[in-house]
Amino acid sequence: MDHFVSIKDLTDYELMHLIKLSDKMDNNGDAPFKEQLFAGNLFFEPSTRTKMSFLVAERKLGIEVLDFHNETSSTKKGESVYDTAKTFESIGASFLVIRHPVNNMAQQLAEQINIPIINAGDGTGEHPTQCLLDLYTIYQEFQEFQGLNIAIAGDIKHSRVARSNAYALQTLGANVFLSCKKEWQDKSLDFTYMELDQAVKTCDVIMLLRVQEERHKQHDRLNKTSYLSQYGLTKERANNMLNHAIIMHPAPVNRGVEIDSELVECKQSRIFKQMENGVKARMAVIYHLFQSRGISYGNYNQKCQPSIVQ
Ligand code: CP
Repeated sequence: MDHFVSIKDLTDYELMHLIKLSDKMDNNGDAPFKEQLFAGNLFFEPSTRTKMSFLVAERKLGIEVLDFHNETSSTKKGESVYDTAKTFESIGASFLVIRHPVNNMAQQLAEQINIPIINAGDGTGEHPTQCLLDLYTIYQEFQEFQGLNIAIAGDIKHSRVARSNAYALQTLGANVFLSCKKEWQDKSLDFTYMELDQAVKTCDVIMLLRVQEERHKQHDRLNKTSYLSQYGLTKERANNMLNHAIIMHPAPVNRGVEIDSELVECKQSRIFKQMENGVKARMAVIYHLFQSRGISYGNYNQKCQPSIVQ
């Protein structure tokens, strides 16, 4: 694995390898790399979870993080994303984590830059590390994917999380259903649509999506109060969920819009567990990228290599 830009690049075997590797990641204080590594976290869009969990993951792996703030960087003098990335490569960054509003930006850089690129979300394209932490969270719960019924519900059209998760879950054998208002259906996603009222009665996982207002056109603006009752997870709908079913959401959550605020931390919710798992999943991706280049070693190798994939 040279880069981590699209979940579609991974086979079911590789996905399971990364899920199981995530499970083995912890903070034992040992740097697993033979050489000093530097991370460039290039966030051109707002982020709390992804940015901070990459930071924690990198520090837990003993990696130095190069400070980059878009607002005070030379991008404000007109420097392109490519030149910014090339600058990081030139000054010794070992890999780049990039979030950008333009679809395919991570892939474009991966084709132009000689260090590994990790996609931390590109426009409405993909969010593969969010996908991995979601897969890991589902695996923790059910220990398998084959035959699970999973509904992805909400702003499908504008969601990179929906795209990555739908493909990966299908690859792993889950039955994926999409649920949203008609205007947010996405014809490029070849999955069955289902009303949320039906999904809650039949699905093992209800994966909600944030309403992505920043990507909506003016005429798309929605009435938030009626959205919850029509399309969101209300307490009434949650009461119809299967006993073993779980609620997920990549967050940030619009409380009272996609989900009733009281459900965010209810017994069936795994929303904060997803965030916790984000650190391990990102550690796994970074570790795996450098493991395949032969520059990792130590306790992590002993812990992670022999029995990751059964
Ligand atoms: N889930 C997610 O990507 O959150 P952030 O935008 O806060 O990183």
